[in-house]
Amino acid sequence: MRCDIGIDLGTQSVRMAELKSGPVMSAPAALAFREGNNSPICAGEIAQRLVGRTCEGVSVCYPLRDGVLENNLYAARMFQWLFKRSEGVNTRRRFGAMITCAPFARPVQKEAMLTAAIDAGAAEAVLVRSDAAAAVGAGLDLNSPEAKLLVDVGAGKITATLFTFGRVAAFGYLPYGLNRIDDRVRRILRSDYGYRVGAACAEEIKLTLGSAMPDKAPRDVLMHATGISMAQRMPVNFDVETKPVLDACEDVVAELARLCCTVIDNAPEELAADLNDAGAVLTGGGAVMTELDRRIGQALGIPCRVADAPESCAIRGLHRIMEDPNAYRAMLQGQQTRQVW
Ligand SMILES: Nc1ncnc2c1ncn2[C@@H]1O[C@H](COP(=O)(O)OP(=O)(O)OP(=O)(O)O)[C@@H](O)[C@H]1O
Ligand SMILES: [Mg+2]
Repeated sequence: MRCDIGIDLGTQSVRMAELKSGPVMSAPAALAFREGNNSPICAGEIAQRLVGRTCEGVSVCYPLRDGVLENNLYAARMFQWLFKRSEGVNTRRRFGAMITCAPFARPVQKEAMLTAAIDAGAAEAVLVRSDAAAAVGAGLDLNSPEAKLLVDVGAGKITATLFTFGRVAAFGYLPYGLNRIDDRVRRILRSDYGYRVGAACAEEIKLTLGSAMPDKAPRDVLMHATGISMAQRMPVNFDVETKPVLDACEDVVAELARLCCTVIDNAPEELAADLNDAGAVLTGGGAVMTELDRRIGQALGIPCRVADAPESCAIRGLHRIMEDPNAYRAMLQGQQTRQVW
């Protein structure tokens, strides 16, 4: 099967690659709908700007939640929007799509993802494990016998996978990603400090003050933020300390470190020993979190590095798989072809 277009649909971002030209675009995976209307009024960057600013009757939606498909209509509309923007697809009458999928997605969610791509106009659709695509994009040779540990840190899911001989030897996941830190920051600021802040502001606070090594992070840094004071009931500027942010980060990072240890514990002895030389590789947008590589390396006792351009590893890997699908047959997860009656 020939795939002309590759899509890495994530909880927060969507990335697209074309067979001929490689990765071509990255945008927020957001769609804005008017009430009672099934066609989005806008998508991507423009829809993302509407988050928290929509008027009555307009809502911003995401096809995925916690790394897996939540709404197949939104997914179909997102695919349609991408297909329209793809040159490779517009010049062909029939085209195939290759889409990343969380390894832990349930069969019904995988089936719904394939159906959404077919409904959006693809003649054929095939799913690929998102962790395998990220590993290929990080430059790991999956088909070699040495074990490789790949930790993909995304917005809605975190996966840790041990690969060998092109197959998965051990796997573990958290059904949430670094967006959970944003939620915690919002909750702590509301309950302990009396300020309400928006999702974008909470993410900015995490990016600025967050760290995976709370003991090493500077404690005397303050960040200016704008929110609503619940006491005064009006917008105010206030300073955020590092403590609540580091506490929020620690909850998620500690679980992430535990997940990696469990995956290695469950691996066959020889493979776990290989990791002493190869180490672990971090991919996904969250891989660049301050000191995350050092924290995981310390927890596992092996070297740990962040892949080059970690946020785009999955789409670069997906493009490589599109070029040579037979070499990665074991990582394909399901296929659907449009029925012509
Ligand atoms: N420096 C940073 N510190 C902490 N978090 C970060 C940093 N940079 C990016 N992130 C977080 O990484 C996440 C985005 O990762 P990514 O783009 O890989 O997610 P996704 O592919 O949309 O989601 P998923 O694959 O989990 O479905 C967001 O939660 C973002 O806030
Ligand atoms: Mg992702």
